[in-house]
Amino acid sequence: MSLLEAARRVRENAYVPYSRFKVGAAVRGKSGAVYVGVNVENVAYPEGTCAEAGAIAAMVAAGETELVEVAVIADSPTPVPPCGGCRQKLAEFGRGETPVTLATTDGDRLETTIGELLPGRFDAGHMDRA
Ligand code: THU
Repeated sequence: MSLLEAARRVRENAYVPYSRFKVGAAVRGKSGAVYVGVNVENVAYPEGTCAEAGAIAAMVAAGETELVEVAVIADSPTPVPPCGGCRQKLAEFGRGETPVTLATTDGDRLETTIGELLPGRFDAGHMDRA
């Protein structure tokens, strides 16, 4: 199964009673294993979590801290862009050149990278003088 297909399938499980906007995400760890996540909303709206964050949490819980590929899908007019916070979360575990596929449920795709999604990102090197 492709990473995008994994994201498409898990998306059905998104818990979105407030936005009604289901998002599915899948990341491939360095080991080759696939981890999936969905957005999980809350009646206290800021407590909701994004699909990307769920997939990353599953990867880390399984003992992996490096991702080599990302896919995100939603029923949006154009391929769904990760929010700013999720871009930083992806950057923590991926590399600038790590491929990211953004997709719509009706087949539109955008192939990008973590570096393109978050240019000028803050990384551990910026704390070298601390
Ligand atoms: N959302 C994600 O899960 N990932 C994205 O890349 C964009 C936004 C979720 C958060 C919230 O549950 C809903 O989409 C509307 O913002």
